[in-house]
Amino acid sequence: MTRLAYVNGRYVNHSAGMVHIEDRGYQFADGVYEVVMVYQNRLVDEKGHLDRLESSLAHIKLPMPMSRRSIQLVMRHLIAQNRLDHGLLYIQVTRGVAPRDHKFPTNVKPALVMTTKKTRISSVNQEKGVKVVSVPDIRWKRCDIKSISLLPNILAKQQAAENSAFEAWFLDEQGMVTEGTSSNSWIISNNKVITRKASSAILNGITRQTLLEIISKHKLHLEERSFSLQEAMKASEAFLTSSSAFVIPVCQIDNIKISDGTPGIFTKNLLNYYRSAILDLPQIS
Ligand code: PDD
Repeated sequence: MTRLAYVNGRYVNHSAGMVHIEDRGYQFADGVYEVVMVYQNRLVDEKGHLDRLESSLAHIKLPMPMSRRSIQLVMRHLIAQNRLDHGLLYIQVTRGVAPRDHKFPTNVKPALVMTTKKTRISSVNQEKGVKVVSVPDIRWKRCDIKSISLLPNILAKQQAAENSAFEAWFLDEQGMVTEGTSSNSWIISNNKVITRKASSAILNGITRQTLLEIISKHKLHLEERSFSLQEAMKASEAFLTSSSAFVIPVCQIDNIKISDGTPGIFTKNLLNYYRSAILDLPQIS
């Protein structure tokens, strides 16, 4: 079966998909992206991801490359062609191809690429939990935009990998946790769920937003506020969320175990609530 990618108006063989060397994504990381989970033939939080794509594009002053309806049709076509019942769909939009010059080019169409990747959420990580390491947050001040410029995230994730950790948690200049390199950060303390407020210091995760709705529906105590690395280390539970991970317990931060170093019941319940909310979504027809 051929794996297809959508590249600027054409469906091509994934391994042959190419963009021009003067694509501004390649030259300047001048673009934004989205990652949508396909879970048991369901597009998870499609509306939230497309809303965020529109918002990221508006922030970098780029129009939608085509209508939302057309993007949704391409998404469905790729998913069907690639028989993606479980996996990730990537949507990337850049400012298009133009001779290298920092300022915006005129009359250039944005470039749109969509790809899929077959993958399953790691049940081992969900059941056993993971370790994270703390690193200084050296990113720019607009982390609410899902920019393709990911160097600080990549360097931090590599540092995590070199320390046998799954993720790195960024710390701002006050020692407060902002978020992970590709996930949002949460703790449980005194039976309260605590996560940083959405601002330009973090990406407002779509998984985060869905989980906030679930927390409110189940009338759990929530505090949307910053927490320090020390508070996280002393928390009764910690976890991370993202489209590609759902909810993963964090059992160790640097060399400190969270509680007894095993996933807590609060986090397990949240994962179960999240999973059942996803299974309520309609299947892709
Ligand atoms: N990452 N924070 C950052 C910096 C992220 O890159 C992501 C997502 C999140 C969680 O957002 P969401 O719940 O919408 O996935 C938070 C995706 C999965 C990625 O880059 O692969």
